[in-house]
Amino acid sequence: MCGIVGYVGSQMAVPVLIEGLRKLEYRGYDSAGIAVLEPGNGIAVERGEGKLAVLEAQIHGKEYIATTGIGHTRWATHGRPSVPNAHPHKVGRIALVHNGIIENYIPLRERMIAAGRTMNSETDTEVIAHLIDERMQQGDNAEAALRHVLGEVRGAYALGLVCEDAPDVVYAARKACPLVVGMGEGENFIASDIPAILAHTRRVIYLDDGEVAVLTADGVTVTRVDGTPVTHPVNVVDWNPVMAEKAGFKHFMLKEIHEQPSAISDTMMGRVTPDRDGVLLPEMEISDDALRALTRITIVACGTSWHAGLAAKYMIEAVARLPVEVDIASEYRYRDPLTGPGELILTITQSGETADTLAAMQEARKKGATLLTVCNVVGSSAARAADGVVYTHAGPEIGVASTKAFTTQLVALYLFAVHLGRVRGTLGAEGARELLDDLARLPGQVKMALAREDEAESLAKQFFRHRDFLFLGRGSMFPIALEGALKLKEISYIHAEAYAAGEMKHGPIALIDEEMPVVMLAPPGPQYEKVVANAMEVKARDGIVIAVVDDADTELSAKVDAVLRVPMAGPFASPALYTIPLQFLAYHIAVLRGCDVDQPRNLAKSVTVE
Ligand code: AGP
Repeated sequence: MCGIVGYVGSQMAVPVLIEGLRKLEYRGYDSAGIAVLEPGNGIAVERGEGKLAVLEAQIHGKEYIATTGIGHTRWATHGRPSVPNAHPHKVGRIALVHNGIIENYIPLRERMIAAGRTMNSETDTEVIAHLIDERMQQGDNAEAALRHVLGEVRGAYALGLVCEDAPDVVYAARKACPLVVGMGEGENFIASDIPAILAHTRRVIYLDDGEVAVLTADGVTVTRVDGTPVTHPVNVVDWNPVMAEKAGFKHFMLKEIHEQPSAISDTMMGRVTPDRDGVLLPEMEISDDALRALTRITIVACGTSWHAGLAAKYMIEAVARLPVEVDIASEYRYRDPLTGPGELILTITQSGETADTLAAMQEARKKGATLLTVCNVVGSSAARAADGVVYTHAGPEIGVASTKAFTTQLVALYLFAVHLGRVRGTLGAEGARELLDDLARLPGQVKMALAREDEAESLAKQFFRHRDFLFLGRGSMFPIALEGALKLKEISYIHAEAYAAGEMKHGPIALIDEEMPVVMLAPPGPQYEKVVANAMEVKARDGIVIAVVDDADTELSAKVDAVLRVPMAGPFASPALYTIPLQFLAYHIAVLRGCDVDQPRNLAKSVTVE
C-alpha cells in the first residue's frame, strides 16, 4: 500500500531512490515520483502515472546532482491514479511522501481551502503538505512544523519529508504504517520495507508509532513527536540483496514458487529436538503453563494468511485437542470480539504490517488475550505487538501473489501444533516423531512436485481460455482449494470460487456445465471416497474434472479429464504439497493470458489501509 524511500548521503540520490522504488513497486504501481534537493535550485519533483518505468523514462537523460531526496510508489486510495495525485506533493519549500490514510483530511482540507489555499490533488497527503507549509509561514522550521501537524492529523502514516531550508536532511515519521531507517556509512535511508535498502546496508532501526526520525549523512536521531529522545537498537537483517532479485526467473512469483523447498527447510531448521519428538520455538516466549491453561485459540488473518489459518485449525484441533476458531481480521476487529485472558489470539501475517490484522491484535490486547503471531518479517509491527512470534523463514517475498510465505506459514503452524500437543499432553513422543518425520520429508516432496511444473503448464494451455473455475476439497484441503482459487483469480483475473466439496450439492452444483473446470483435491484418507463421489457428481453434469491426487492414486485418476500428481505425503504435510500444482496452474494460466504476474491490477502486497 504505497512504498516510500528516502536518501541522504554522498551518492547521486536519483538512482538510489529509483532502485529503492523498484524494490517497493510490489506495494503499489499506480504512480511513482521523486523529489530531490538540487544544490542551488531547490526541490525538483518528477512524477509519472503508472508503473515506475514511466517515471524512469521521464527522467532519462536529465542530470540531477542531488544527494538528498525522497520517493514514492502509489497504491491509490484518495483520488484515482494520475500525475496530480502522485507523490511527492510539493507545497512551498517542502515536499512530502506518504503511505497510509489521514482520516480527518476532509475538515483539514476545508480549512486549508477556506484559508485561501488551492488543492492540486484529491489526496489526503497534499493536505499534510499544506498544513506543514502553513506552520512554516508562521515561523516554524520544517521539523517543528512537522511535529505540530502530526498532532493534528488522525489516521495512519509513514512520511518522508525534505525541505529547501535544510538540503542535507530527510525527515520521517511513523504511525501504524511500516517504516525502517537504514544506517549506512556516511549515508542513511528510510524505506517502507527492507529490500529497498538492502543493496546499501543491512543495519536497520525499526521506528515505533509516534516517532520522528531526522536523518543526515552523518547520523540519525529518533524522538517522540513531542521531542522526547528515543534510543533504538540497531538490528542486522539476515536477508541479502540477492534474495530480493529474480535470479534468472521470468517473474518473482515463479522464483518464489521454486524457492519453497529451501524456505520450508529454513523454517524447520533448528526447531526439532535431537530426539525428533518435540519442537523448539524459543522466540515464542509463551510459557508451557500458559499454553496448558489455554481454553481456546482464535486465529486471525487476511487473504492467503487466513487460508493458512483455516488449514491449521484442522491440525491444531486434531493434535492438541483445543478448540480453534478462525476469523478474518477485518471482521474480527469490528465485532467487539469475545476474548480475554486464557485465550490465544494467533495472527498470521507475511508482512507483519497488514492494517486489519494489526488492529485485531490491538483489540485482543485491550481485552487481555495472549498474542502470538506467525510472521515473515523480523521487527515488523505484528512481531513487535505480539507476546511471542513464530517466524517463517521464507526470505523476502516480492511477488504480490503469496506462494512461499503460505507454505512456510503452514510449516510454522505445523510445528506450533506439535509443540502444543506435546505441552498439553495430547500428543505422545511416538506420535510427535511420526508427525515430525512427515514434516522432514516435505522439502524433498515439494522439490519433486516442482519438477512436474510442465504437467501444470500443459494443463494451463488447455484451460487458460476458460472464464470460470471451481476448486473443491474436504477437510484441510478445503483451505487449499480456497488458496488455489485466490491464486488463479488474483493473477489471471479468471473468476474462481472454492467450496468445501460437500457443500457443492447445496448450491454451487448449479454452476456446473461442460465449460466449467472443477479442480478436485483428493488426497488419500477418510474423505477420499466422498471426494470421488463429488467428482462423479460433476462428471454426471458434463463438468470437466481436474483431479489433484498422489502418485499412488488409481481410482479417481482413471475417471477424470485431467490429473495433476504430487508425491505421497503425511496427512498434515499434504496441504503444503497440494498447493504447489495449484500455484503452477495459476501462474502458467496468467502468463498465457498475458497478465502481469508480479503486479496484478488493483492489488498491492502489503495492505496497510483498512
Ligand atoms: C495473496 O496472494 C495476497 N498476497 C494476500 O491475500 C495476503 O495474504 C494478505 O493481504 C495478507 O497479507 P499478510 O500475510 O502480509 O498479512
